[in-house]
Amino acid sequence: MQYRPFGKLDFQVSALGFGAMRLPLKGTNDADIDKTQTLEMIHYAIDQGVNYLDTAYGYHSGGSEIVVGKALKDGYRQKVKVATKLPVWLVNTAQDMDRYLDEQLKKLDIDHIDFYLFHALDKDRWAKLEQLEALSWAEKAIQKGKIGQIGFSFHDDRETFQKIIDAYPWTFCQIQYNYLDIDHQAGQFGLQYAAQKGIAVVIMEPLRGGRLAHPPQEVQRIFDEAPVKRSPVAWALLWLWNQKEVATVLSGMSNLLQVKENIEIASSSRIGLLSPEELKIIDKAREAFESLPSINCNMCKYCLPCPNGVNIPRNFELYNNAFRGGAFEDARRKYLALPEEERASSCLRCGDCEKLCPQALPIPELLEKVAQAFEK
Ligand SMILES: NC(=O)c1ccc[n+]([C@@H]2O[C@H](COP(=O)([O-])OP(=O)(O)OC[C@H]3O[C@@H](n4cnc5c(N)ncnc54)[C@H](OP(=O)(O)O)[C@@H]3O)[C@@H](O)[C@H]2O)c1
Repeated sequence: MQYRPFGKLDFQVSALGFGAMRLPLKGTNDADIDKTQTLEMIHYAIDQGVNYLDTAYGYHSGGSEIVVGKALKDGYRQKVKVATKLPVWLVNTAQDMDRYLDEQLKKLDIDHIDFYLFHALDKDRWAKLEQLEALSWAEKAIQKGKIGQIGFSFHDDRETFQKIIDAYPWTFCQIQYNYLDIDHQAGQFGLQYAAQKGIAVVIMEPLRGGRLAHPPQEVQRIFDEAPVKRSPVAWALLWLWNQKEVATVLSGMSNLLQVKENIEIASSSRIGLLSPEELKIIDKAREAFESLPSINCNMCKYCLPCPNGVNIPRNFELYNNAFRGGAFEDARRKYLALPEEERASSCLRCGDCEKLCPQALPIPELLEKVAQAFEK
């Protein structure tokens, strides 16, 4: 494993961090985590030197923190830093913050959370935290020994990011960043802005929730023609580790093979590894991606459950698949095989989902577009 500085902190973080948002499931229910497989994956990763584990109150309908807690038994707690997040959208008072933090310590079954984040900040959530004086609340939690460092994860525009970064001497922050998102949300600007202040930048969604792992033919062809042979995952991850401002890259791995592959790629990573010609290949891949019609959904499932049962991420995934090199009929067949309530056309436009989408997607409008494409 390669290790990298974690901002100004006296801690060398593994290049690869474990994201516990896309754990293997026993069936199709997101809460029904396959615990045996998950424990095997997390233990393997820690045994191979991964020392940063990221979860959140809401992942897997609350189940992720519990399973992560089980993985920390048998001496694993001492080998890894644990990061989890306060569900800011559920918080309305200082008492709420105390209540969630205590519940999280209980679920994880530990007495100290190393890295505590305000989850998925945007303008409105930041304004709410300021009003609640959440930073002094967090400092008190540090004094009580319940948490180690305060940070935040982020989904909004770069101006908001800059404002939040400038508002407090943060130890670390977490941003969505991959070779498609250089100008999206905090983007490359945010990465460099935070890093030059000595703030450790943790990367989430390095493969855009998996989309960069299975690129459309138009992108795959670019990688196939490159003089250096690498998988699309290796291209995407090495591009991140190439940048000195990146502290650790969280990957939401969903099986042991992915853990093994990503550890191997991390071990071969290095700042400045990619040549100018290789960086141009990534630029070409980005251009090819951007030339295709697509919905910018990362399958994070924050929008679920839909009150009417629509499987929002699956509809967007099928739509995105439909417009890749001749895959329309296959995607349409899969769409029509969905139970009726899960299809885009079952959306009642209540808009509950829109408030929760980290990408700020106009979900009902996009579902209408999906229904039009597949049913009309
Ligand atoms: N704070 C926030 O607002 C927030 C938001 C999002 C994520 N996060 C955190 O950041 C972590 C990382 O984000 P992410 O889960 O979106 O990561 P990601 O790496 O962009 O996507 C993970 C998906 O990529 C695919 N993948 C990973 N390694 C692969 C490999 N070697 N070969 C083939 N496919 C591979 C898998 O998809 P398949 O399952 O389809 O195979 C996996 O589920 C999360 O787990 C979570 O801890 C935080």
